[in-house]
Amino acid sequence: MSSKRAMSLLAVVVLLGIAQTSLAASSKGNSEAGKKLYLESCQSCHGPTGKGDSDLAAYLTPPPANLAAKATQTKTDAQLRKIILEGRPGRAMASFDGAFEEAQLTDVIAYLRSLKP
Ligand code: HEC
Repeated sequence: MSSKRAMSLLAVVVLLGIAQTSLAASSKGNSEAGKKLYLESCQSCHGPTGKGDSDLAAYLTPPPANLAAKATQTKTDAQLRKIILEGRPGRAMASFDGAFEEAQLTDVIAYLRSLKP
């Protein structure tokens, strides 16, 4: 095989790999990336593993939700997305509208789905 042909084959393989990665990210999200965002934006209230056990929790009424609990895990992705974007007015849960790119929001939700009770 000529080296030119080998190079174009290689390019196709690389492009396919990229397409597959971004497809996976858009349909399911990347919980590792989501964890990083969670630790930056959410753990101060929801605690390091989502259990609602942060140091701040004692000072918040109502307290931050335990995101690993059934009440949260039985919500649909769309419901979680809405809560994160709109927050809970009058409560410590702020609106994160504009804070994340679409893909990042999907990643954060993928991380929430990985939380174990
Ligand atoms: C300043 C504190 C604070 C931060 C930061 C915060 N939350 Fe919350 N969150 C709360 C509180 C308090 C509640 C409970 C509100 C209620 O009971 O209505 C809550 C509720 C929620 C709920 C609803 C749970 C349920 O089942 O009803 C979700 C989902 C959630 N937070 C996700 C997040 C995510 C994701 C982040 C980071 C992007 C985040 N929160 C950042 C305080 C916070």
